[in-house]
Order: sequence, then C-alpha cells, then structure tokens
Amino acid sequence: MKYRVAFSLALLTLASFTAQAKYDGEDRGKPVMPSTVNAKFVQECAGCHMAFPPGLLPAASWTKMMAGLDKHFDVDASVTPAEATEITNFLVKNASNRWTATTAPLRITDSVWFKTKHSSREVAPAVWKRASIKSASNCMACHTGADKGDFNEHNIKIPK
Ligand code: HEC
Ligand code: HEC
Repeated sequence: MKYRVAFSLALLTLASFTAQAKYDGEDRGKPVMPSTVNAKFVQECAGCHMAFPPGLLPAASWTKMMAGLDKHFDVDASVTPAEATEITNFLVKNASNRWTATTAPLRITDSVWFKTKHSSREVAPAVWKRASIKSASNCMACHTGADKGDFNEHNIKIPK
C-alpha cells in the first residue's frame, strides 16, 4: 500500500514536471510595467483602454502594431510620425525578452502564454461573456492593478 502511494506521487510529479518543461519552451509575457513609463505612450495609448505593459508582447508585435495604427482593431489610433518613433522605441525597449516563438501576435490575448494562464480551468468560458468583462482584453475587469503592471493572483477579483 505504502509503495502504491509513493508510486502515484512520483507519477504526479513527473506529469507536472513535463507540463512545466513544455510551457518553458514557449513564448511568455513579462507582466510588469517598467519603472520609467514614456509620457507619449500614456497620452496616446491609454485613452481607449488601459496602457498595456510593453512586456506583454515581443518587440516584433509592437513594431507591427505601431506601423498600422490607422487600422488598429477597426479604429483609427494614428499618431504623428515623431510620436510613433518615440512610442515604438519605448515599447521595443521594454518588450518581452522571454519570447521564443517566432509569432508576432497583435493581441496579447491571442498568445499561447495568455491562453495557458487563462485556461478554462482558471476562467470558465461563460465568464468571459459577462457584461462586466465583455472582452478578454479588458484586463482591469479582473486584475485590479493591471494598469500598474500588477497581475499578482492575490489581486484578481472576477466580477459578477
Ligand atoms: C481610438 C481608440 C484606441 C487607441 C487610441 C488605442 N487603441 Fe489599442 N485597441 C483599441 C481597440 C478598440 C482594441 C480592441 C479591444 C477589444 O477587442 O476588446 C485595442 C486593442 C489593443 C491591443 C490588443 C489587446 C488584446 O486583445 O490583447 C493592444 C496591445 C493595443 N490595443 C495597444 C495599443 C497601443 C500601443 C496604442 C497606442 C499607440 C493603442 N492601443 C491605442 C482602441 C484603441
Ligand atoms: C475574467 C477575468 C480575467 C481577465 C479579463 C484577465 N485575466 Fe489574467 N488571470 C485571470 C485568472 C483567474 C488568472 C489565474 C490566476 C492563477 O493562476 O491563480 C489570471 C492569470 C494571469 C496572469 C498570470 C499571473 C501569475 O502570477 O501567474 C497574467 C500575467 C495575466 N493573467 C494577464 C492578463 C492580461 C494581460 C489580461 C488582459 C489582456 C488579463 N490577464 C485578463 C483572470 C483574468
């Protein structure tokens, strides 16, 4: 009996180790806001939604996004060329450095690491559709300190 318990435990450990190893090989966001935040970025990128911490996407995503602001998710979010250069530099400098995948998604919410962190075990599919949440992009609905780069699990409050 004792032997069987030990064996199951070993299997469990092995299973979680394998899952971890697989996850480490994939792209990952760096969910923190840099200590110095560019003022133009706040001015131009926090009007329609919160200022997304730059570490949530790799540099290639930001370069691509900043080159197409006139057609930004069906809205026009254009800035002047000088502002675009300044904001792009800030985003690229603080982009995720833990991104190994060659993908450059325009949505944080489309990335593998986002989906892994928000599996149906963590957030049931019906929850995303609540009027208080509306969109997975609405980080602030659940992560109360998201605009400050705080995604700590102790500060998550899923709204009714
Ligand atoms: C005029 C309004 C507007 C402005 C200004 C704006 N955005 Fe957006 N942004 C949107 C909309 C609308 C979406 C899609 C939101 C959704 O699907 O719920 C979006 C989505 C995003 C997403 C994807 C979020 C996700 O789903 O993972 C990122 C990243 C983003 N914006 C970055 C920026 C940056 C950087 C700037 C500044 C250069 C900016 N936005 C300025 C309206 C705006
Ligand atoms: C419906 C509520 C909800 C929304 C909206 C949401 N999240 Fe989450 N998020 C969660 C839950 C629940 C977890 C899992 C916490 C845990 O592991 O215990 C989580 C985990 C995370 C983690 C991992 C935290 C850690 O310590 O491991 C990050 C990073 C994160 N979310 C970022 C985001 C970003 C960025 C957005 C917006 C683009 C977002 N989330 C939108 C509910 C949400």
